[in-house]
Amino acid sequence: MTRKLEGKVALITGSGRGIGRAIALKLASEGARIVVNDLDAEPAQEAVQAIREAGGQAVACVGSVTAPDFAERFIGTAVSEYKGLDIIVNNAGYTWDNVIQKMSDEQWYAMLDCHLTAPFRILRAAQPAIRALTKAEAEAGQRVVRKVVNISSMAGLFGNPGQANYAAAKAGIVGMTQTMAKEWGRMNVTVNCVAYGLIKTRLTGSAAEGSTANIEGREIKVGVNPDLMAMMEKSIPLGRGGTPDEAAGAVYLLCIPESDYVSGQTLMCSGGLTGL
Ligand SMILES: NC(=O)c1ccc[n+]([C@@H]2O[C@H](COP(=O)([O-])OP(=O)(O)OC[C@H]3O[C@@H](n4cnc5c(N)ncnc54)[C@H](O)[C@@H]3O)[C@@H](O)[C@H]2O)c1
Repeated sequence: MTRKLEGKVALITGSGRGIGRAIALKLASEGARIVVNDLDAEPAQEAVQAIREAGGQAVACVGSVTAPDFAERFIGTAVSEYKGLDIIVNNAGYTWDNVIQKMSDEQWYAMLDCHLTAPFRILRAAQPAIRALTKAEAEAGQRVVRKVVNISSMAGLFGNPGQANYAAAKAGIVGMTQTMAKEWGRMNVTVNCVAYGLIKTRLTGSAAEGSTANIEGREIKVGVNPDLMAMMEKSIPLGRGGTPDEAAGAVYLLCIPESDYVSGQTLMCSGGLTGL
């Protein structure tokens, strides 16, 4: 059976864990060659290994998406390793919450840097490569559709207390998505967003009190208290948080040829929740 993404080259940020890892494995299982990225080398290498063990192809490009030279390095890895660039998923991220009166400038900018500036730089760095590929394809009489999927959140669409920084960045990516869909339509690139509700990952997992993750040298609180989690799940029409595989399914839909005429959209992947 022909696989949907045979030979495509897909770049996925933050794909060492959680939703990004599930996206990488799903796209690889459909034949895409993957550039895995993560801040942390170990989970990035583990994801590469998992893809290879399943018969797929992957390389790692380790480092923070917020590093000024990251975008060029990331795009460069795809072009040098696989001589192509077909799918970009801007997924890397985390939350760093506080009510506005207690939110530092550092906290504010950390979210904008990771969730908005990094995707901007990655797409900016990708443009010359995509333009060159599109030009060569047009000269050969071919039309290849490329895909960008940016990851947003229900918090970015509806707001969430304690997340002024994160919600602003996740709302910003929706505006950038709509703009890029208009700028890049003529290069046959569709640009869409997936906005998640509650997906069970490290970010939202049931955490022991005081659980943290080290993100760029800062100890950031992760996880949701189990009582709060149970309450959140009750408000979801499907009655539960989603799995990383279910979350990856929404991105996959926007990467396959059947969605070639869908662009500039935000798809909610939230178990039926349509607001917060
Ligand atoms: N889990 C949810 O309920 C939920 C809801 C809405 C949106 N999201 C979004 O989905 C995306 C993935 O989140 P997740 O739940 O899988 O979290 P996760 O913590 O399980 O995985 C995120 C991965 O991104 C990596 N990462 C973080 N900062 C990075 C950086 N600066 N550079 C490179 N990698 C970095 C982490 O190391 C981690 O491996 C994020 O953008 C998040 O905001 C998640």
